[in-house]
Amino acid sequence: MTQSEIGLIGLGTMGAMLALNIAEKGFRVAVWNRTTETTHHFAKNAGDLADRITATETLKALVAAIKPPRAIILLVPAGDPVDQMIAALTPLMDADDLIIDAGNANFHDTNRRAADAAKSGPHFLGIGVSGGEEGARHGPSIMGGGERSDWDRVAPILEAIAAKFDDTACATYMGTGGAGHFVKSVHNGLEYADMQMIAEVYGVMRDGMGLAAAKISDVFDRWNNGPLQSYLIEISSAVTAVIDEATKHPIIDVILDRAGQKGTGRWTVIEAQHLAAPIPVIEAAVMARNTSARLEERKEGEKRFGAAPQAFADGVLTLGDLESAMIAGKILCYAQGFALLSAAGDEFDWALPLPDVAKVWRAGCIIRSSMLDDMATALEENPERNLMLAPFFAKHLEKSHGALRKVVAQSALHGLPVPALANGLAWFDMMRTGRSTANMIQAQRDFFGAHGFDRMDGGDGHHGPWALQG
Ligand code: 6PG
Repeated sequence: MTQSEIGLIGLGTMGAMLALNIAEKGFRVAVWNRTTETTHHFAKNAGDLADRITATETLKALVAAIKPPRAIILLVPAGDPVDQMIAALTPLMDADDLIIDAGNANFHDTNRRAADAAKSGPHFLGIGVSGGEEGARHGPSIMGGGERSDWDRVAPILEAIAAKFDDTACATYMGTGGAGHFVKSVHNGLEYADMQMIAEVYGVMRDGMGLAAAKISDVFDRWNNGPLQSYLIEISSAVTAVIDEATKHPIIDVILDRAGQKGTGRWTVIEAQHLAAPIPVIEAAVMARNTSARLEERKEGEKRFGAAPQAFADGVLTLGDLESAMIAGKILCYAQGFALLSAAGDEFDWALPLPDVAKVWRAGCIIRSSMLDDMATALEENPERNLMLAPFFAKHLEKSHGALRKVVAQSALHGLPVPALANGLAWFDMMRTGRSTANMIQAQRDFFGAHGFDRMDGGDGHHGPWALQG
């Protein structure tokens, strides 16, 4: 039997699609799933790709079916299942074999696993894979972390299966240990933020402007042909156009307003706090999902305080204002995300290639958008600058921040929550204020705790004359 170039464990939706993608690109792949029935069912239904797929019933058989030095991709639920699988594979594999975790791992776990692997046992790579089912099948975006030599070993396969942007594969090595999974985590934070900002403008159109779903779908469709072109805007247009079979109403009006989450957005926020790298738009997006889950409390709040959203009078806001506000919100949100990546790169010694991060997100992943191409250029041209100060985006912000202010202000006046857009605006205003109000914080800290302060006219470690006058 011809041995396979690679193995894959976990034939859930993502694993199955990735295995088919690998086979389609001409590689032989050996597969194993906890339930043997699933493995055989998968192989039997692989159509004309079946002859490149080897179904195995035991881990030992899987390992034997792969050409050494072996590489095995894990697509099992993040957390304990990954550790269990590594523990089960380790005695069966050689020291120079390679285990690749392609799940949505917490990058701290990936760091730990990579450090363990460096001590003994098979090598370890943690790769962030984005693009959902469709991406896994036809071209995901792949963010790699681990030893460069291990990445190089499997790069031909990963690049072959990845999405392409102008013929460039969206599969990039990000750095050692958990770097790839960290970048995926920030991707997911931005995914939450993009989705939340879209939900907010959807709310303004629905509740403030009284637009029906079909009309909102048209608006998103129009925006998708302008600066906001992105996969998430495109699918927002698609979902608002669909009619529910049972009720004959737009399905969007039937879906319960309680958002789920698996937690990657939360990890991004936690890490940003550790790194003191503000990502308020993503924070608002995570907060909004958590608040949406408190359905009963929200209903009680509505009873007590009255339904919040009030419709706008004609002309208070235009659709053009909304589009511009989204453009500003998106620039600010990504400026925060890239600043977080830069802080993490310094802290963890990853030298994260920021323009390459923008490039790897241009196709295949959930946050793919035309703006990411401009961001890659801006990050290349302004390596040391916050993205909001890069000339191209500063110009865009100059034109659009007025609309963001108008949308946030009018929404607040009409009781429409737009927390992500509002946080973006507040951060923008802070970032363009040379003289902030943190002098008050410093005075308070020194008053109650003698923490000291710097003076504007020079010197640090001063104390106020509080005892004399307090
Ligand atoms: C991707 C997505 C994906 C994620 C889902 C669900 O890049 O393909 O980020 O990895 O698991 O979007 O995430 P939540 O359940 O946290 O919304």
